[in-house]
Amino acid sequence: MSITFNETDKLFVISTNNTEYAFKVRHDRFLVHLYYGEKGKSNYDFKANYRSFSPYLPNVGEGFSLNDDFIEFPFYGSGDFRATSLKLRAPAGDCCTSFVYKSHEIISGRKIIKGIPCARAQEGTETLIIHMADEVTGCLLNLYYTVFPKHDIISRYFTLENAGKETVKIEKAMSLSLNLVGHDYDMISLYGAHMEERNIQRSAVVMGNQRVFSRRGASSHQFNPFMALVGKDTDETKGDVFAFNFVYSGNFLDEVEVDQNGHTRVQVGLGDEDFGFKLEAGESFEAPEAIMMYTPNGLGDMSRKMHSFVREAIVPRDPMEKRPIVLNTWEACYFDIDQQKLIDFAYEGVKYGMDMLVMDDGWFGARNDDKAGLGDWFTNTEKFPDGLAVFVDKVKASGMKFGIWIEPEMINPDSDLYRAHPEWCISCKDRTGSLSRSQYVLDFANPAVLDYLKKSFKETFDGVAIDYIKWDFNRHISEPGSPYLPADRQDEATFRFMLGVYDLFYWFMETFPNVMIENCSGGGGRYDLAMMSVSTQIWTSDNTAGRIRPFIQYGSLMAYPSYVMSCHVSNPMVVEDYMNLIDYKFKVALAGMLGYELNILHMGDDVKNEIKKQTAFYRSVEKLIKFGDLYRLVSPFENNGTTAYYYVSTPDSGENYADRILLTYLQNEGVNDGSTITLKISEADANATYKDSVSGETFSGKELNDGINFKMYENNMHGNLWLFERV
Ligand code: GLA
Repeated sequence: MSITFNETDKLFVISTNNTEYAFKVRHDRFLVHLYYGEKGKSNYDFKANYRSFSPYLPNVGEGFSLNDDFIEFPFYGSGDFRATSLKLRAPAGDCCTSFVYKSHEIISGRKIIKGIPCARAQEGTETLIIHMADEVTGCLLNLYYTVFPKHDIISRYFTLENAGKETVKIEKAMSLSLNLVGHDYDMISLYGAHMEERNIQRSAVVMGNQRVFSRRGASSHQFNPFMALVGKDTDETKGDVFAFNFVYSGNFLDEVEVDQNGHTRVQVGLGDEDFGFKLEAGESFEAPEAIMMYTPNGLGDMSRKMHSFVREAIVPRDPMEKRPIVLNTWEACYFDIDQQKLIDFAYEGVKYGMDMLVMDDGWFGARNDDKAGLGDWFTNTEKFPDGLAVFVDKVKASGMKFGIWIEPEMINPDSDLYRAHPEWCISCKDRTGSLSRSQYVLDFANPAVLDYLKKSFKETFDGVAIDYIKWDFNRHISEPGSPYLPADRQDEATFRFMLGVYDLFYWFMETFPNVMIENCSGGGGRYDLAMMSVSTQIWTSDNTAGRIRPFIQYGSLMAYPSYVMSCHVSNPMVVEDYMNLIDYKFKVALAGMLGYELNILHMGDDVKNEIKKQTAFYRSVEKLIKFGDLYRLVSPFENNGTTAYYYVSTPDSGENYADRILLTYLQNEGVNDGSTITLKISEADANATYKDSVSGETFSGKELNDGINFKMYENNMHGNLWLFERV
């Protein structure tokens, strides 16, 4: 049993394999949080300090204030001045509510959330549902706590039903709220920009309110929904970590607030600035799911548990036995799509171990540059005079699989679709819409838009032997309104847009069940758990430069697994050092799922033979990278771009623990003074002997534990691989 309720103490305890979360009902109505942390370490007796100026209820008396106690799900206006989970505009015009506990149920497994991705139940999953009610509005609130025991994860969300007689409006919705004792924490978040995704930032939690958010209508390159609060001494191998994430791809808010008692409240949800939702009598609302995890064993343990959670509970069934090593046309051709050239790519790529040709942008409508064509999802007959199906069959005759690029949410003003339906764009009444990459965003709150897209993709892809779709999203949402929705529902436009996006993903997955979807948003602009649950992998970043890429991948691996991280070797820009850079970029790409993005027809035999060795090596370690446990040794963020990490085999990767270890060292910037770096492989079996199949050298496990000494390169953009195999 993962969830228990003690009737006498009115105490709920939710357990994972190693953690415990506890709260109780106080004064028969208020839910008060008591503990989150290691299992068996608490007496559940936490009591906040009562402060003057904290309001108390006349029928409860001084000594209990919603403003000081750890309120499990704080609501706005009734005396808790801290960050709120739910702000509801009542029919009377005020935003005051007071939700009280009514009853609860514990079910095995989980309920799913209508229209929004959520984690799949795992072995031992149970759900606690708390039923609460607000007397004045008549609204009923249900809090959901779902346990993923093995991953030490508990998920949270709420549903709200307007059982009253009049309309209410949700003005802030936070799926998860957690109170932590004290504020001696650092906050870790992932920030960035297009081409610079997921830099790791660590900063002290301070008195007041700190926010990580997106107001862009996408989870964004700029801030990722992942966040962690960690102890001051927490590092890779030790220390407290409270980690959070949100299973949603639109606007979000991660909020951390320290109160007058020095305690910290963490919240994750849709937020208040870019979200509102009207509920008429009888209507209900379901919030997206947020997850939380605790470990006392540092960031490495956090990442490994997050990784296996994403693999097992988030990403759908892999439609292919092996991930395809793609040859993507973007950096080779851009918009210059020529069918014979692509067929030649396929015949050449297959010789060197690649197994899928991905035709990127430029194959449809009048799409000869990024100024036109989006929305017109029919094959460009000048480029494909015999049609798409005939071309794809020719590609596939080479032995390669075939993938194709789409960007369904978008529309160029220069398109037939826009000329026919200018009212189908996201926009605000009477305002000129801002362009970004010469495009607007379609109003997915409007069912007619979704119907049109489904019909055109069905027609265009009918009878075409597609194996893979690269689904892109290349701008953010400004003028966030929906011409389809009435004036009093305009605040719902971006949320309903996301529901439409998920609807289209589900339709694709149902209509083309054997097609693998790779997500993309100008690279990694929607690198979030919800996108991961409707696709197999994500294009990590448009930046494939050897100098920057190790940072982006290292940051991505903090919260998300190699299993979803699409890594391409692209054309080196520098001519002189070509062979070394092809080698270096491959070593960089070996952190995740391999692909290529270069003009194979322009490569000399030396490069192509090198690629052949690379693809063979990748296949020999693919499972180790995909399912193995990641151990980070050297962070590029703290070491001038020098990076080191290893993957260790586990039963998940089909081997015994530590039978094989793949160690990567990358040196991409900074000045080298000729010093030696020691790389300690703590996971090697001390009693075993290992042979490095790259160099042929032999090491005892103990030697690997103590660390191998590596003399740093004199020049940057060099890397080394070791594949230690137990002999
Ligand atoms: C985005 C993607 C690229 C490529 C282009 C095509 O930038 O991230 O990989 O698909 O769009 O326009």
